[in-house]
Amino acid sequence: MDIETNKIAGAVLSTLLVVMGLNMTAGIVFAPKKPAVPGYDLPSDEPVAAAAGPAAAAEEPIAVRLAKADVARGEKAVGACKACHTFEKGGANKIGPHLYDVYGRNKGAVDGFAYSAAMKGKSAEKWEADQLDGFLKNPKAYMPGTIMAFAGVSRPDTRADMVAYLNSLADAPKPLPKP
Ligand code: HEC
Repeated sequence: MDIETNKIAGAVLSTLLVVMGLNMTAGIVFAPKKPAVPGYDLPSDEPVAAAAGPAAAAEEPIAVRLAKADVARGEKAVGACKACHTFEKGGANKIGPHLYDVYGRNKGAVDGFAYSAAMKGKSAEKWEADQLDGFLKNPKAYMPGTIMAFAGVSRPDTRADMVAYLNSLADAPKPLPKP
């Protein structure tokens, strides 16, 4: 082989190498992604935020929930309140005021209990179904400044059970609102 032939062979070889190199690089850079499941990603026809949508967020009115509330369930549910409240007639105040006969009572009306200014400011209002439901859902949101250190009861039906139970704690329970 003469020198010219060698040069040509070299040029062809190096061209081949460059093409192969480019091909590999392209393969790495543009590696095709294979879908885990072959086929197209069709838009799902399930509503995305079904659980958080307005339908789920809307609570039934307390009167509707009270119609299916259960005093015995409510009595169990207030176990969470007993660190701070007594429920029996003549019960003492603890961290919170006693709750016998609270339904229909004016807010902040137990003698000798040191209520917050926020509670005293509402003493013209009575604890009825709506008010208890709202307060128990989120005390601090319902009454900014309250000293009831309790996060709240998120389940609407459980709150209705509690309201029914609280109303039962009276010599003469008051009529509950009807749907
Ligand atoms: C960590 C203690 C604590 C827990 C737990 C707690 N409370 Fe209270 N509660 C208080 C305090 C303190 C007040 C007085 C709030 C104020 O003056 O702002 C209060 C006030 C109340 C009032 C208003 C009473 C009145 O005389 O005006 C109601 C009703 C009530 N709580 C119900 C409940 C129920 C039902 C639960 C359980 C689901 C509960 N609380 C859990 C401490 C607590």
